Amino acid sequence: MPPLLNDAHIDAAKYDEMYAASMADPDAFWGEHGKRLDWIKPYTKVKNTSFAHDDVHVKWFEDGTLNVSANCIDRHLAKRGDQTAILFEPDEPGDGAQHITYNELHEKVSRFANVLKELGVKRGDRVVLYLPMIPEAAYAMLACTRIGAVHSIVFAGFSADALSARINGSGAKLVITADGAPRGGRVTELKDNVNKALLHNVIDTKCLVVKRTGDQVAWVGGRDIWYDDVASRVSADCPPEEMNAEDPLFILYTSGSTGQPKGVVHTTGGYLVYASMTHEYTFDYKEGDVFWCTADVGWVTGHSYIVYGPLANGGTTLMFEGVPTYPDAGRFWEVCEKHKVNQFYTAPTAIRALMGKGTSFVEKYDLSSLKLLGTVGENINPEAWNWYNENVGKGKCPIVDTWWQTETGGHMMTPLPGAHALKPGSAQKPFFGVKPLVLEPTSGEVIEGNDVEGVLVIADSWPGQMRTVWGDHDRFVATYFSDYKGYYFSGDGCKRDADGEYWITGRVDDVINVSGHRMGTPEIESALVAHETVSEAAVVGYPHPVKGQGIYCYVTLMNDETPSDELKAKLQAWVRQEIGPIAKPDVIQWAPGLPKTRSGKIMRRILRKIAENDYGALGDTSTLADPSVVDDLIANRADV
Ligand code: WTA
Repeated sequence: MPPLLNDAHIDAAKYDEMYAASMADPDAFWGEHGKRLDWIKPYTKVKNTSFAHDDVHVKWFEDGTLNVSANCIDRHLAKRGDQTAILFEPDEPGDGAQHITYNELHEKVSRFANVLKELGVKRGDRVVLYLPMIPEAAYAMLACTRIGAVHSIVFAGFSADALSARINGSGAKLVITADGAPRGGRVTELKDNVNKALLHNVIDTKCLVVKRTGDQVAWVGGRDIWYDDVASRVSADCPPEEMNAEDPLFILYTSGSTGQPKGVVHTTGGYLVYASMTHEYTFDYKEGDVFWCTADVGWVTGHSYIVYGPLANGGTTLMFEGVPTYPDAGRFWEVCEKHKVNQFYTAPTAIRALMGKGTSFVEKYDLSSLKLLGTVGENINPEAWNWYNENVGKGKCPIVDTWWQTETGGHMMTPLPGAHALKPGSAQKPFFGVKPLVLEPTSGEVIEGNDVEGVLVIADSWPGQMRTVWGDHDRFVATYFSDYKGYYFSGDGCKRDADGEYWITGRVDDVINVSGHRMGTPEIESALVAHETVSEAAVVGYPHPVKGQGIYCYVTLMNDETPSDELKAKLQAWVRQEIGPIAKPDVIQWAPGLPKTRSGKIMRRILRKIAENDYGALGDTSTLADPSVVDDLIANRADV
């Protein structure tokens, strides 16, 4: 086991003392830690929250005012103006890295903010970002916060259709994109996707285009604007807008177990307090460290731990445009060596993929700058944990396994590297202010004591919590506060071990986790049934050696359709086009019938077991309308 860090911000005694204080008096605790930010008007109220089903509300620091970009940039200028804020590593290693100092960041973001103003973007307006992992993505985010606009980032791997739904859903006035996104030596034509997305747009949305590849793009006059054309005529001085702590900061769409993705809303004050504090303590970030989170800014991990957390802390954050395996499987380690990375934060799926390529790629590089490693997004299996520890951390770097969600804004459970002896595969301990409970899934009773298992809920609010679903507060209440009244329901199951430490056991709803990306199976099902040949579809996850979970689809065709391998390929391509490459089905099995209850509900539990090749555990099938369909599905199970 790697040793604890011995000069860490938080040691075991400090953790116990601070955790107890955060539970005993949240107002006092967060009132104190809220001061880590610069407030324009300091708050006098700290916590105003309720999880009561008929009155769910979450407000923190509600009478304080501040500006996020000023906290991430301006306040660091006097001391760290010449320090690197963003270290950009492009897709092609030969293109050379860029070091953007805090002074430069200030200029870039202010100018970007004036471009937005020039295009008529005002406080409260929504702006969709559909960008590669380039510094302009961070500039655009921070520029929105500077003028009080609300950004909604759409991962550049999502399709035009998914983008269009998110533009309309948030009512965005402006989409910011680039001509193309180089990734792993290939280019995604982002501007083309925006053109398709805006084709049937119901609102008047303009498109601001940053030049990245220099490729030719199709242009719509009056709607499309080159960033450089406007930037050259605006000033680089833009005073930050005074925002209320509870003004929306960003919307981020995420998949759930029902229907369309929901727009998770985070607000200004509490989110930033929480992102910056978790970044500092979980990663034991210290002045001068180079921090690298390999996520994409299209996911919450990129929001909190590439941009907002590190920059609020005056840190140096590495932004990587590429993929772990390009030009070869040594890229991560080459970049760690080149930029002397101190903390490295990635997803188990990336570790598993690299593990499969052997150790020679890691051994080539000097990784002695690394002090700490982290993982996020899914459970890490022991093989991957050991490989990471031995080959990357050389047995010296604590590994923080951070459990959290888009909804939580920042880490909820994780070992702290100076405080907790590690247990591979466990998220171990709640962060300050987080009160996890384990409930009996059916009765909803609280399960006390240790060595127990159930569903994971959180008993009280924390500052980084989402505030609502964009435009649909009822859905917020229905999704998170209705199954188990009085608690925030995470959708995950968990165990509390004999020592009182936590182990996440995975989703208990219809969400699957594919390569650390979360996906609602109903979304893939709707895409499938939208195809003219498909009458019905049910989608479940199954264990996949690299992705964690793969996408297994049972498809019933229309009566006059003939099953064929060509049709399978067509349906895979269709889903890819409807949602994006990450949603492409791994397996399609033709299903003449689906197992349903007499009331017509699909029994996914059974489908899951068949996909997992675990027939012994099918459970009670007597409530099925037609039990024989199960035999047929088993007999024709796809070999995975
Ligand atoms: C899963 C990503 C086990 C979990 C930050 C959660 C994890 C979902 C871990 C949220 C972890 C995240 N161990 N499972 N360390 N971290 N998860 O919203 O199921 O993309 O509910 O946020 O990922 O995914 P999301």
